[in-house]
Amino acid sequence: MSELWVEKHRPRTVTDIRGQRSVVERLGVYASKGEFPHLLFAGPPGTGKTTAAMALAMDVFGEEFRRNLLEMNASDERKLESIRSKVKQFARTTPYGDAPFKVIFLDEADALTNDAQGALRRIMEQFAETCRFILSCNYSSKIIEPIQSRCAVFRFRPLPDAEVQDQVALVAASEHLDIVDDAVEAITRIAQGDLRKALTTLQVAAALDRTIDRGLIYETSATAPPEALHAYLMACKEDGFHAARRRLRELLDRYGLAGTDFVAQLHRNLYAADFLDEQAKLRLTERMADVEFRLVEGGSETVQLDALTARLVNELDA
Ligand SMILES: Nc1ncnc2c1ncn2[C@@H]1O[C@H](COP(=O)(O)OP(=O)(O)OP(=O)(O)O)[C@@H](O)[C@H]1O
Ligand SMILES: [Mg+2]
Repeated sequence: MSELWVEKHRPRTVTDIRGQRSVVERLGVYASKGEFPHLLFAGPPGTGKTTAAMALAMDVFGEEFRRNLLEMNASDERKLESIRSKVKQFARTTPYGDAPFKVIFLDEADALTNDAQGALRRIMEQFAETCRFILSCNYSSKIIEPIQSRCAVFRFRPLPDAEVQDQVALVAASEHLDIVDDAVEAITRIAQGDLRKALTTLQVAAALDRTIDRGLIYETSATAPPEALHAYLMACKEDGFHAARRRLRELLDRYGLAGTDFVAQLHRNLYAADFLDEQAKLRLTERMADVEFRLVEGGSETVQLDALTARLVNELDA
């Protein structure tokens, strides 16, 4: 895999960002004014936060934007001292071109402890004349209030399926892939609004075969297709514990799922199972939550998944 498609096909300008309508509108105003305050981007992975920071810098500073941009990852900078000294060093020289300020992009800001955030707040103040900070995080609740109040806050949402589909189709066309519609649909289902995940899934499959169909997507993405999960549930209902257990083993092997993947995927499909009544679905959801927790805590995969199968067999038999 030479170049990552997520990088290659990353929008270069704010207006090319998919979805995130209100974010794009507001950033568009900054881009046209060439001026903005400190910014805080919050939202789930793969929804365009880093992309938006880069695109805004590009719109404001032009092709040479990297000269006015310092990128840092908060989880790499163990000590806040290293952030302070890098910022100091960077802020010392005047911005390139006729830009009014330089930009510091701090990724994963929610990885900083509260103490470190307190110190960051002072750094932001100290260099406010010459630098703008763009902070990115998954959870804005993990960012202390004084920092939030110094920033314009932007919330990124999981992308709607239609946006994911369009971008996948666009990238597939530009990479000269032969992709069928239900493969695009499968990618969208797997991505759940995370466009990075969608494009990575596409590239992994394309490395094996330039003709991409639904089966290839599922087999290369550690995801079971809905009909395989349905078949497992049906086996629980009709064929009894041993047959269902066998089916589960086959499914895990074929699609390369870990126990936790399986529980998460089954959970997502549970509500679509029309042969289960509401009460049974609720009971099973609680059971799945237990099993998931135990798996994460190191419980045996075989025992936990057998217990889940046993419970399903009992529920469905009733
Ligand atoms: N809204 C979007 N419009 C167009 N492309 C996008 C969008 N969101 C994500 N992408 C694609 O997915 C890739 C990853 O997105 P990005 O790096 O912006 O995610 P992020 O929100 O910063 O995620 P994380 O929280 O994991 O840092 C981008 O390089 C781009 O190709
Ligand atoms: Mg990012």
